[in-house]
Amino acid sequence: MSAAREPSRFAALRAELGGSSDAVRFARAPGRVNLIGDHTDYQDGFCLPIAIDRDVLVGFRARADGRVCVRSLDLDASVELPTTAAVAPWARVVAVTLDVLAARTGRAIAGFDAAVTSTVPIGAGLSSSAAFEVALLLVAATIAGVTLPPLDLALAAQEIEQRASGVPCGVMDQVASVSGRRDHALLLDCRSLTVTPVAIPAHLGVLVVHSGVERRLVGSAYAERRAACEAAAARLGVAALRDATIEQVADDPIARHVVSENARVEAFVVALAAGRADDAGALMLASHRSLRDDFAVSTPELDRLVELSVEAGALGARLTGAGFGGCVVALTARDELGRVASEVSERYRTETGREPSAFAVSAVDGAGLVAAS
Ligand code: GLA
Repeated sequence: MSAAREPSRFAALRAELGGSSDAVRFARAPGRVNLIGDHTDYQDGFCLPIAIDRDVLVGFRARADGRVCVRSLDLDASVELPTTAAVAPWARVVAVTLDVLAARTGRAIAGFDAAVTSTVPIGAGLSSSAAFEVALLLVAATIAGVTLPPLDLALAAQEIEQRASGVPCGVMDQVASVSGRRDHALLLDCRSLTVTPVAIPAHLGVLVVHSGVERRLVGSAYAERRAACEAAAARLGVAALRDATIEQVADDPIARHVVSENARVEAFVVALAAGRADDAGALMLASHRSLRDDFAVSTPELDRLVELSVEAGALGARLTGAGFGGCVVALTARDELGRVASEVSERYRTETGREPSAFAVSAVDGAGLVAAS
């Protein structure tokens, strides 16, 4: 999102809400990209996401009649509760958000009008839905006069995602959106739920390349993988695969991915802090191989994008998020970002006939109320 377009986003939301624009406030929640550590969060493991400069922005204003009206500028659709049946997925998120907030705070929902716009691509594995849930929770909580501590906000958003989509997701996406820190990745320990900011060296750049293939089968396959991990942990008699050793899971590819991935996250953080960017890149490639061969969540398009990124000079690359389509994330020298992006895009387009989209991302602060710019 270029800074130049920011004022027009605020203006568009204000215009949509009409009336006295003085009373309009704004909440923002970023999407995320995960540098390393996928399919570890629901096994109490480690991951290393960054909150990115793509976000959901909501303009909102209290209304006196207790109704909640949310309009999506991007989808050109509205939901009004309790009147409309919340059938569309995004409308379900609105309805479930209000339920979850009321249940967690013990307070009745106060009415508001809201207008929403997003720069997080949908279906890309960049957590557009987590950003929407977090932004909406902030709005509903602010209107109700409640302040949710960051961890409660993330856990409430995770509950919304699980209930609205039926996918038994972990907590990585929501914590990343809430706890983002400018110029830092977030080392998330999914057992203690502690977040340790990890500086991203200024000479490194993070590139996201969308394969042009939306994520497929993500709901059912995700639930199957999660169930397989739970079964493996139960067989081993451990609370979660976080507690298993690599020897214990040597013959079980699914569990082996989780255990080896946790080790790679920790090694990646050490490599980054020691200025060993090449080692960090190699760990990303090992992570991709593990997600492809052991955990079986890659696609031919994602595999090819990883190879092309390396051939173009990236230090490392891997699929990011749940897999089954969506994006790869690549680590490059910052001054190589533009060249790597165009070389990868060009070759991918020629080879596959698909239109990729490659963009640099930077790490931003987490969700909150913001002043109009
Ligand atoms: C999705 C889920 C997360 C996490 C990733 C895979 O993004 O929402 O909780 O499990 O997949 O790492």
